[in-house]
Amino acid sequence: MKIIKFEKIDSTNNYLKGLKKPKEDVVAIADEQTGGRGSKGRSFSSLSGGVYLSALKLNPCKTADSFTIMENAALAVCRTLSAFGIEGGIKWPNDVFVNGKKICGILIENVFGGDMVTRSVTGIGLNVNNPLPAELKEIATTMKEVACKEFSVQTVRATLVYNLFLTPSAEEYKRRSLVLGKEIKIIKPDGTEYFGVAEDVLPNGNLLLKGGEVLSSAEVSILI
Ligand code: BTN
Repeated sequence: MKIIKFEKIDSTNNYLKGLKKPKEDVVAIADEQTGGRGSKGRSFSSLSGGVYLSALKLNPCKTADSFTIMENAALAVCRTLSAFGIEGGIKWPNDVFVNGKKICGILIENVFGGDMVTRSVTGIGLNVNNPLPAELKEIATTMKEVACKEFSVQTVRATLVYNLFLTPSAEEYKRRSLVLGKEIKIIKPDGTEYFGVAEDVLPNGNLLLKGGEVLSSAEVSILI
């Protein structure tokens, strides 16, 4: 595995996706991103003081197991937070929350070939000591805000890289879930909203509701 460090770059995900023929796994790290990307085409605020990194893995798993990539990323963040005395919970499928606020963003971009994920880029932005834009203050938090102290960005980063290369665990994912056994609000793309009780996360990553309905994170969003 190779690690590349940038002081400033548009996006660590873009950098890894642009690599022509990588021969080994690569981790790209940046102090700041000028064009950090979030999910659903949104931007991701990436001011100095946070951890912004992406891991490119070659042939990480079979297509059928691609949810393990999300599972692994969310768990890596939780395990990293735990190492610094902060307990995070996972909002399906892969948002990590502390005290009801989002503490990191995860953007996974996969390339498929046959029945394999041939390349996956897992991008993680973890709020450590970085300031948050005013519009995010109500919904996002930082490790500094939670613990009322600053953390070493280098140490948090190194811990996160280490945790990203551990084996995922469906059991630990479920144990850290903020939705299982709870009533959640489901929002469909056409705006329809209704409530249901989350019963299980299936091996393919779909969410099973009490009563048998199965939800895909590609199709619905939820509120907890
Ligand atoms: C989200 O919550 O919408 C996902 C945000 C993902 C942000 C990370 S920061 C490192 C990597 N580079 C990017 O441009 N995005 C991801």
